[in-house]
Amino acid sequence: MTATRKGEGQTALVTGASAGIRVDLAECFASDGYNVILTARTESALREVADRLAKTYQVTATPIAADLGAIGGGRTLAGEITKRGLSVDVLVNNAGYGQAGAFNGSDAATQLGMIDLNDRALVELTHIYWPAMMANKRGGVLNVASTAAFQPGPLMAIYYASKAFVLSFSEALWEEARGTGVKISCLCPGPTVSKFRERAGTGKTRLSQAGTPMPSMTVARMGYDAWQANKRVEITGTRNRITASLVRFLPRTTVLRLVRNLQSPI
Ligand SMILES: NC(=O)c1ccc[n+]([C@@H]2O[C@H](COP(=O)([O-])OP(=O)(O)OC[C@H]3O[C@@H](n4cnc5c(N)ncnc54)[C@H](OP(=O)(O)O)[C@@H]3O)[C@@H](O)[C@H]2O)c1
Repeated sequence: MTATRKGEGQTALVTGASAGIRVDLAECFASDGYNVILTARTESALREVADRLAKTYQVTATPIAADLGAIGGGRTLAGEITKRGLSVDVLVNNAGYGQAGAFNGSDAATQLGMIDLNDRALVELTHIYWPAMMANKRGGVLNVASTAAFQPGPLMAIYYASKAFVLSFSEALWEEARGTGVKISCLCPGPTVSKFRERAGTGKTRLSQAGTPMPSMTVARMGYDAWQANKRVEITGTRNRITASLVRFLPRTTVLRLVRNLQSPI
């Protein structure tokens, strides 16, 4: 390994890096020489990923178990990072989950927990690390939203709304950071191979029959490259890009009916 790697001397914090897209995102950063801090709730899985990345890419990979869904979870994690003498140059806000089904009759803790993890923790961590990034004029944030961000989502209402928040917040910060050297991108994947479906219950919807999920490394690589290029929004896959554009021109009631149909059980 040489000193010419892009990330040499910098550290990326990747949230929820025990499984799915995040492991691959952490690998993208590590392969370019970034030290990585990996966080999720399952310590054993984190340690396994950290050991593999450290050995393969000769970087420092630190696993820290944390529940970001807990109120103040971001602050607690940041405290632990400081306590260990580590700093964060790049923040990858990737932790998130979804839940398919009608809002009526849904579990309040699951719905509110989604907002806590997908939005609250993302803002909390960004708010903690953003000032130093702006002061140092380097580093930045890669937020993971979804193609769900581009329209409301009947039968998965809170998830879609939570991702619309991530997209709106990311684009606003991109403009605030323009010209400073701080990079911020919003990655918007469509269906991707991971454990997400299992947890969200989206495997039983019509949407799940509409195409083949993309491999998570392809999605992570697109997000990583977009962030390096300071691309404002990265939508994965041609079909997803076309759909996200079309939505702007269709009547909203048509969009709502189409999404409801896609989110309906098979
Ligand atoms: N997969 C898709 O089809 C798809 C499509 C569009 C967008 N996305 C978005 O992509 C992101 C990554 O999802 P994925 O597909 O990789 O999901 P995944 O396979 O379900 O991975 C979930 C990860 O999040 C962690 N996590 C869950 N709850 C947590 C909490 N309270 N605190 C800390 N970490 C937590 C999990 O680890 P622990 O359980 O160990 O905590 C795990 O590492 C999410 O924001 C998701 O909304 C996914």
